[in-house]
Amino acid sequence: MHNTNPTNTDLKNRSHSSPSSRRESPATNWMKIAIIGGTGHLGEGLSIRWAQKNEIIIGSRKPEKAVEAAERYLSEMKSIGCDTSKVEIRGMGNKDASNVADLIVLAVPYKHVFKTLEPIYSELENKILVTPIVPMKKVGDHFEYTPPKQGSAALAIQESVPDSTKVVSVYHNIPSCKLKDTSCDLGYDAVICADDDEAKQMIIDLTKEMNCLRPLYGGPLAVSNTVESITPLLLNLAIMNNLKDLGVNFS
Ligand SMILES: NC(=O)c1ccc[n+]([C@@H]2O[C@H](COP(=O)([O-])OP(=O)(O)OC[C@H]3O[C@@H](n4cnc5c(N)ncnc54)[C@H](OP(=O)(O)O)[C@@H]3O)[C@@H](O)[C@H]2O)c1
Repeated sequence: MHNTNPTNTDLKNRSHSSPSSRRESPATNWMKIAIIGGTGHLGEGLSIRWAQKNEIIIGSRKPEKAVEAAERYLSEMKSIGCDTSKVEIRGMGNKDASNVADLIVLAVPYKHVFKTLEPIYSELENKILVTPIVPMKKVGDHFEYTPPKQGSAALAIQESVPDSTKVVSVYHNIPSCKLKDTSCDLGYDAVICADDDEAKQMIIDLTKEMNCLRPLYGGPLAVSNTVESITPLLLNLAIMNNLKDLGVNFS
């Protein structure tokens, strides 16, 4: 990591002073979060959980699809009685979304990750990049973890982004349909793997803001495989035992 890079505190300050931030007095940890592939299942849940305290930018390969998703998420929040008077959810193309954000979540299936990263490469400089991505495949009636040669999706992604990008691995084991139900305190643990302390702390804080998950630090990015590989286990347990939406709670 180059020591000339802005710290995460700088990123937050930049977020506060940005002209596109319309609030006069945003929450202390107000951030601009882009969710690449935010039109999908996980993107919806994360958007709805974070939108009360952060600006959300939905990214898509098709800007109009992102705009439509942003409008839909806002309507969903209204329909479940959320106060949306200060909520700001916008939609744009993946590159523009990455450009304006302080923190970027990569919410696309593993097989599409690298072609998604390529056009946004330069927008990732000095940003935090969150990966919830699990490489896996269905084999017959069950799922298998299929890590790349680097050992995990997180390590493969780290190789494909600028040196200044701080990769954080988290949210792999959180079922998206429960995440978007804001009446639900999921009680699940969100295990975080990261090498950068400030980026790790920022994700701990953002996870606490969701009011439904317990953030737990699981170690450096090198052990992301241990967390990613839990997802096929949860899916297999659900399939084999007629269960739904399993998560993990370490106790
Ligand atoms: N679903 C869950 O419960 C869950 C939970 C934890 C972690 N995850 C992880 O989160 C990631 C996203 O999961 P998801 O279920 O949200 O995925 P998804 O709904 O299947 O897809 C997410 C987005 O990926 C983009 N996409 C689809 N096909 C693409 C292609 N050919 N090239 C580039 N982009 C493409 C689409 O965005 P645009 O068409 O708008 O570009 C789509 O809306 C996965 O890696 C998964 O392992 C999922």
